[in-house]
Amino acid sequence: MDMRLPHLYIHEVLLLLFLATLISQASPRILCSHPLQTRTSESEKPTSGFGRGVNIGNALEAPEEGAWGVYIKDEYFRIISEAGFNIIRIPIRWSAHAEEKSPYKINDEFFGRVDHVISKALEQNLTVIINVHHYEEIMLDPQGHWERFLAIWRQISEHYKNYPKNLYFELLNEPHGALTSDLWNALLLDAVKIIRETNPTRKIVIGPVDWNSVHSLKNLSVPDDENIIVTFHLYTPFEFTHQGAEWVTPSPPVGRKWLGTEEERKQIINELDIAAQWAREHGEIPLLLGEFGAYSKADMNSRVRWTYFVAREAEKRGIAWCYWEFCAGFGVYDPIENRWREDLLNALIPKENTYYVSAETEHGEITGSGWYYKGTYATIKLKKTEFDSLIPITFDHFEGLNLDKDIILDKGTVKVYVDGPREVKAIWRRNYTKLAAVLIAGLTIGALLFFCFKRLKRSKKRIKPDIFDAGV
Ligand code: BGC
Repeated sequence: MDMRLPHLYIHEVLLLLFLATLISQASPRILCSHPLQTRTSESEKPTSGFGRGVNIGNALEAPEEGAWGVYIKDEYFRIISEAGFNIIRIPIRWSAHAEEKSPYKINDEFFGRVDHVISKALEQNLTVIINVHHYEEIMLDPQGHWERFLAIWRQISEHYKNYPKNLYFELLNEPHGALTSDLWNALLLDAVKIIRETNPTRKIVIGPVDWNSVHSLKNLSVPDDENIIVTFHLYTPFEFTHQGAEWVTPSPPVGRKWLGTEEERKQIINELDIAAQWAREHGEIPLLLGEFGAYSKADMNSRVRWTYFVAREAEKRGIAWCYWEFCAGFGVYDPIENRWREDLLNALIPKENTYYVSAETEHGEITGSGWYYKGTYATIKLKKTEFDSLIPITFDHFEGLNLDKDIILDKGTVKVYVDGPREVKAIWRRNYTKLAAVLIAGLTIGALLFFCFKRLKRSKKRIKPDIFDAGV
């Protein structure tokens, strides 16, 4: 039998292939004006570590759930899972719901609430990390709270011993203060022993002192146990991530940007390298970057750049991460509008072939920042190009253009070709002519007045003796 395709068919097949290629190349342009749709393909997902997560912060670790503005809704877990996250970290202030005196019983109703939240997260196949968060008293008086801390963990362990293995226990958020590394190493060992009585193989997350700083990893003693994960937090530079943070004294001033300069990148790489190196030297212990994020008082372009950079660099080193946090001050999700802050979400879980375009201006408003598909154009537009005052400010040009590819539409509007991350900045010029004219006029009037006044004085002097003469 002749297996060759008839000539006519070959031509048709070639034509179809050609059309298909054209369509696939054209589609990114069509998608450009729509919300981005596809998320990272399977092949781009991190291969080691256990993934990408988010903290549901400001909820169960507040003195009471809701007191800090976040009450966890059941649907959050579906929303989080559908967006592509596979870990959820739930900070919990157990110490506010346990008796002060032995046997330090945890309130049943509170346990019930946590059970409900965990079950909703597990329904979505998320890996769920519950921790002991904001146990401030133990940071001030570790010995005084030793037994209570262990009693809390004994109850939690017993309570969740039959839960699936994708529920993880994290011993204590950000040990610091009087809880020195020696004390913490002893306390965590005690806690691990207690947990192991009822949960022989459950994953336990531990982190170093000094607020889970990478620099204190060297002082952390890791129990001889196969199911330990080590966590650390990254908020570097603190002056950027915590600008305007009300809970920090003194609060770093607002306005600090993160541009991704070599020096800025190095700071982050250095911390991640310290963690990765430490893990290698300790038998490839799995690492979790349990918190990182930039507060909403920083500008969105900087937050996107920083978040994207930290997440990708962590992934390159096989470090799983949890963004701080879901829907409060650092929020990647807007709980009022019930939608993701897409720019931040995409920084965490990037869609394939998308790049961030940031448009910056020191004056007025500029639109067009965002994620765009490769091969499309981002339209960047200044709302106003002139500001009138004594020293008028006029838009001069955009810095960062590639005039071979970008298209200037009019003064203040440009279409930027997206072939990689792009940064475009409006450069302004101050016009001093008006100020100079006012100054010259002022000086002239001043000089005239001065001379008039002088002449007047002189003529008065001359008149005076005549008057006296007349009187004599
Ligand atoms: C604290 C939060 C704080 C965040 C960033 C967390 O560990 O518990 O209260 O907002 O770090 O500073």
